[in-house]
Amino acid sequence: MDRRQFVKDMMMGMMAIPVLSSPLSALADVNPNNKSSNMKKIMIIDGGPRMNMNTAQMLQKIAEGAKSCGDDVEVKQVRLYELDYKGCMSCMACKIKGKASNVCKFKDPLTPILEEIAQADGLVLGSPIYFGDVTGQMRTFLERLAFPWLSYNDYSMTAPKKMPVILVETMNGTPERNNSQGYGSMEYCINAALGQPEHLIAYNTYQVKNYDRFELAGFSEEAKRQYRDTHWEQDLQRAFDAGKRMVECLN
Ligand SMILES: Cc1cc2nc3c(=O)[nH]c(=O)nc-3n(C[C@H](O)[C@H](O)[C@H](O)COP(=O)(O)O)c2cc1C
Repeated sequence: MDRRQFVKDMMMGMMAIPVLSSPLSALADVNPNNKSSNMKKIMIIDGGPRMNMNTAQMLQKIAEGAKSCGDDVEVKQVRLYELDYKGCMSCMACKIKGKASNVCKFKDPLTPILEEIAQADGLVLGSPIYFGDVTGQMRTFLERLAFPWLSYNDYSMTAPKKMPVILVETMNGTPERNNSQGYGSMEYCINAALGQPEHLIAYNTYQVKNYDRFELAGFSEEAKRQYRDTHWEQDLQRAFDAGKRMVECLN
């Protein structure tokens, strides 16, 4: 079925909405991914395309910090670039009278991740900065996460539950000179719906492993290396500590 037909059928009530009609509290009883009562679940969402590079390494350290708190911590890492999904389809299924939901109802491979986030105990988002913003994949993910939080009745932002949030950015810019707007307007939504996020920023990252191989004359590899030698280990340590702190604050 094409997209227009899907939305039309759904909005006309001609098709069963492919969604959970049960409230989230009921969902907790039936979801096979549900954690046992005292497990703490941290969701880490990687909005960068590269495995094992700057953003991924920062997120890995957060995961290690969280896991260092004990066996009752489950960490799930999700790489957005491996999922085939769309941004908000404006289907309005989350705002149907009497059936409004603060979790996205559009079905695609992102849906189960959004449902898991709704029940998680902590959320970590990470992205490299592209042209001053988070990546398109991260932004697209955030549309799906946040639009169901928004009430057009009273413009409140309500997530299924509040939880600690860490927002990670990595970039070429320095603390003194950068063009990052970070998570931009989406940070307002996160703040209102989940709680005030903690920021972790890795500046002046190594963009490639070998600067000789590429047309990158605008960068001094020597200056990059010096910065990295004095900052990168600290950045990773800050990431580990933040992951640990996130779990500790749940106890
Ligand atoms: C398409 C693209 C656009 C970028 N735009 C910016 C930018 O606007 N500002 C900046 O400081 N760095 C920019 N960068 C550099 C990356 O943010 C930086 O290298 C980041 O640490 C890469 O993360 P990764 O190693 O996890 O891929 C850009 C890189 C790419 C590939």
